Amino acid sequence: MEEIRSKVEQIRKEFNQIIAEVSDLDALERLRIRYFGRKGEVTELFKLLKSVPAEQKKEAGRLLNELKNEVREAIAARRQEIEASFEREAYDITLPGRPISTGHKHPLTQVFEELNEIAIGLGFEVITKSPEIETDYYNFEALNIPAHHPARDMWSTLFVTDDHKMLLRTHTSPVQIRTMEKRQPPLRIFVPGRVYRLDPFDQTHAPAFYQAEGLYVDRNVSFADLKGTLELFAKELFGPKTKLKFVPSFFPFTEPSAEVSVYYNGEWLEILGCGMVHPKVFEAVGYDPEEWSGFAFGFGVDRMAMIKFGIKDIRLLYESDIRFLKEF
Ligand code: PHE
Repeated sequence: MEEIRSKVEQIRKEFNQIIAEVSDLDALERLRIRYFGRKGEVTELFKLLKSVPAEQKKEAGRLLNELKNEVREAIAARRQEIEASFEREAYDITLPGRPISTGHKHPLTQVFEELNEIAIGLGFEVITKSPEIETDYYNFEALNIPAHHPARDMWSTLFVTDDHKMLLRTHTSPVQIRTMEKRQPPLRIFVPGRVYRLDPFDQTHAPAFYQAEGLYVDRNVSFADLKGTLELFAKELFGPKTKLKFVPSFFPFTEPSAEVSVYYNGEWLEILGCGMVHPKVFEAVGYDPEEWSGFAFGFGVDRMAMIKFGIKDIRLLYESDIRFLKEF
């Protein structure tokens, strides 16, 4: 009898602890089997009843039935609680659906696509693949920028080898050389691409940014052709009223050279460098400078995107902040 009494107490204590932790129906079912299965703890207890002396049977039976009912009711109550929580979590089919959000093109991509279209319309061939890791020769030397020449200071360079023979291209101009080496004039190419400089990442600088290079080589190409071409580009991109300003400048690979600004929101903003291809560049690729002439230009594509969309900080173009990108 005492054995039964203490077992009942023990089972009750254990059960109360376990049931408090049960949170799903499978676990609850396992618990039910543990107590009421063929060899369940409560079932086994009832088997002990046989050995209890007759005068104590009534009391022992009462204790066991009490435990049995308690456990059974606790399990039933827990089942109801768990099922009720399902109903709370069930789908509300009357809720309006969430809108499916489709992505769209990054502002830089949009500008590139527009530029490419304009270039194609003007008879340029778009070159979409070109190396971003360059040799000193293509990035500088062949563009009439010899080693140790101060003109190199115009490009704060990221070298990738200790001997400074390999670098991340600082501009798309090396593709001028690569193309002319392989082909004979006349030619007209447009080269969008990423370039790198040892610059800070601030409102107006990024260590990696985008340019688009144009090169036209033919007989009797004049500065007027260059001007007309750039004006067409600007008007297509920014609208027919767009005004451009050409300011004399210096690049070792063009002569004469100019920087071009576009009038936007009350100020002149520089968007590109350009000029007539320098005879030294033609010599480097084996073209006769007496026979051939040409112009080249290099757009700052980030600048153009910033102007077109009114973006004040270049970093926004690279931070992938969805709140910013959604605006375009
Ligand atoms: N490559 C020059 C730069 O990055 C721009 C340029 C291109 C100038 C072509 C003249 C001709 O600054």
